[in-house]
Amino acid sequence: MSTLLITGAAGNMGRMLRPLLRRPGRTLRLFDIAAIDDIDTATEEFVLGSVTDREAVDAAVAGVDVVLHLGGLSTEDSWSNILSVNVDGTQAIYEAAVRHGVTRVVTASSNHAVGFWTHDEAGETALAGDVETRPDGFYGWSKAAIEALGRLYHDRFGIDVINLRIGSSFDRPPNYRGLASWMSPADTARLIEASLSARANGFHTVWGVSNNTRGWWSQAQGAVIGYEPEDDSEVFAEELLADHEWTFDDPILQRVGGAFCDHPLGQRM
Ligand SMILES: NC(=O)c1ccc[n+]([C@@H]2O[C@H](COP(=O)([O-])OP(=O)(O)OC[C@H]3O[C@@H](n4cnc5c(N)ncnc54)[C@H](O)[C@@H]3O)[C@@H](O)[C@H]2O)c1
Repeated sequence: MSTLLITGAAGNMGRMLRPLLRRPGRTLRLFDIAAIDDIDTATEEFVLGSVTDREAVDAAVAGVDVVLHLGGLSTEDSWSNILSVNVDGTQAIYEAAVRHGVTRVVTASSNHAVGFWTHDEAGETALAGDVETRPDGFYGWSKAAIEALGRLYHDRFGIDVINLRIGSSFDRPPNYRGLASWMSPADTARLIEASLSARANGFHTVWGVSNNTRGWWSQAQGAVIGYEPEDDSEVFAEELLADHEWTFDDPILQRVGGAFCDHPLGQRM
């Protein structure tokens, strides 16, 4: 019997992943500030709480085997909110993991931790999954900070840490940029399962994208942990490109972070 804590389980990815991560002998403990009203009581438990409440985090982490940390602000926000929810909140998760002997934390980082890398800089080869951070806003900066926190707790306490630099994890690509950045629900579940496997022991930072024809973010680091994406956004290309020419001269496509790179700092998207 194993227990996987999913923070932020009421969100878009949590909703998508819950049915895909159910396994015999695995309990999903769901944690969020928002209520979840469709709990499958045979396989799931729900804990209402905020990552900013250390007692609530401690109670949620007690007795779990792995934390999948999705909870927090998922777009640009004020500096103070970003610091308290994304940075302090993640540190609370790591502290609780140490206290309760949890040996693995999988975190939702983001392409916005490295948003200012460009297609030109990737050159002939795809951009590595663990390329140096270049955040495109306070949100992206918090994801870079979360990755670095993971490095600290890995080096100090030996926790296995897998930072997932997620592209666009939705049912379908949200826009034409998603033809490069999309990660299908099934591939997202494959990436999580790979992150839970023995091949992911240690410290890893990998892209979270599908095997997209127009993708330019390397699958090499994901392959190391056993992630083998099977889906391709190209099936949506005709529809999404009806009004757009596909060219990397377009800043939305040229830069990893797309439009986030130009958005006013600290303002919600
Ligand atoms: N979906 C994507 O394409 C994508 C891309 C890059 C990174 N990510 C990251 O993956 C994670 C999940 O993304 P998502 O699309 O499901 O986002 P989402 O905004 O839909 O879900 C986030 C969840 O976190 C919860 N939350 C917010 N503040 C909280 C707090 N203080 N304590 C506990 N829970 C809190 C929210 O209630 C929500 O249910 C986020 O960390 C996001 O930054 C997602």
